[in-house]
Amino acid sequence: MGILDDRVVIITGGARGMGAAHARHFVAEGAQVVIGDVLDDAGEALVDELGKNASYVHHDVTDEAAWETIVREATAQFGRLDGLVNNAGVLVFQPMAEMDLAGFRRILDINLTGSWLGIRAVAPVLSAGGGGSIVNVSSINGMAGAAGLTAYTASKFAVRGLTKAAAQELGAAGVRVNSIHPGGIATPMTQGPGDRSDTDSSSFFARVPIARWGQPEEVSPLAAFLLSDQSAYCTGSEFVVDGGVLSGVPF
Ligand SMILES: NC(=O)c1ccc[n+]([C@@H]2O[C@H](COP(=O)([O-])OP(=O)(O)OC[C@H]3O[C@@H](n4cnc5c(N)ncnc54)[C@H](O)[C@@H]3O)[C@@H](O)[C@H]2O)c1
Repeated sequence: MGILDDRVVIITGGARGMGAAHARHFVAEGAQVVIGDVLDDAGEALVDELGKNASYVHHDVTDEAAWETIVREATAQFGRLDGLVNNAGVLVFQPMAEMDLAGFRRILDINLTGSWLGIRAVAPVLSAGGGGSIVNVSSINGMAGAAGLTAYTASKFAVRGLTKAAAQELGAAGVRVNSIHPGGIATPMTQGPGDRSDTDSSSFFARVPIARWGQPEEVSPLAAFLLSDQSAYCTGSEFVVDGGVLSGVPF
């Protein structure tokens, strides 16, 4: 018995990082998962690992038509749809003076507009199936800003606001909507050669109560809780998993 037995969940950006950890955890908790991403090789490899309870769809969250495809795939493959994790995201460390408008818009488009499109696409299907749960992946940067992260911070604050407005709008339809706010989690986003901070992580963690990177697997149980009936009275709320980063001021 798992807390997600017989639930069908779409996870965007699920081919690697936290999304992949969520897919593994949800399947272990009894779910069937539809993984969307633009990284097809990684997505297919994950489905090979997870077996019959997982399916991969090439899915760019900014593409309105692609949302119809992934919802159709979920219901065709597994017969129903119960949840969505709006996990796909990009992070770029860049001072405003160096960021052009196209770069700013790209981050908003993926992190914010992609989540809005997702909520709009799945809500009627969740409702028709008797209700459901949507988890939007914001960040500690949905609660506090950081230099070099104006676009990312704006997008993650907006995801937090989107969550609350959607919860208000969809409550009567039986759809719950919550946001999660991870801190520094060790994934390709933060450890890879590309979009990484030039901040020394040891000085960042020096004043954090749990002074280390979080692991993706330490976030997945929170997402599963929010998708499950265990959180039946939670909607429009924000759930922080950050090792205590936001609990104090850096004196
Ligand atoms: N790692 C952290 O410290 C951290 C902290 C707080 C929040 N987050 C958020 O968690 C989520 C997952 O991040 P992660 O750390 O696992 O990073 P990651 O880079 O490992 O994974 C992000 C995934 O999103 C996919 N993606 C990017 N653009 C896409 C698009 N247009 N359509 C579909 N998929 C797309 C990528 O291909 C990748 O598989 C993101 O929303 C991120 O902003 C991460």
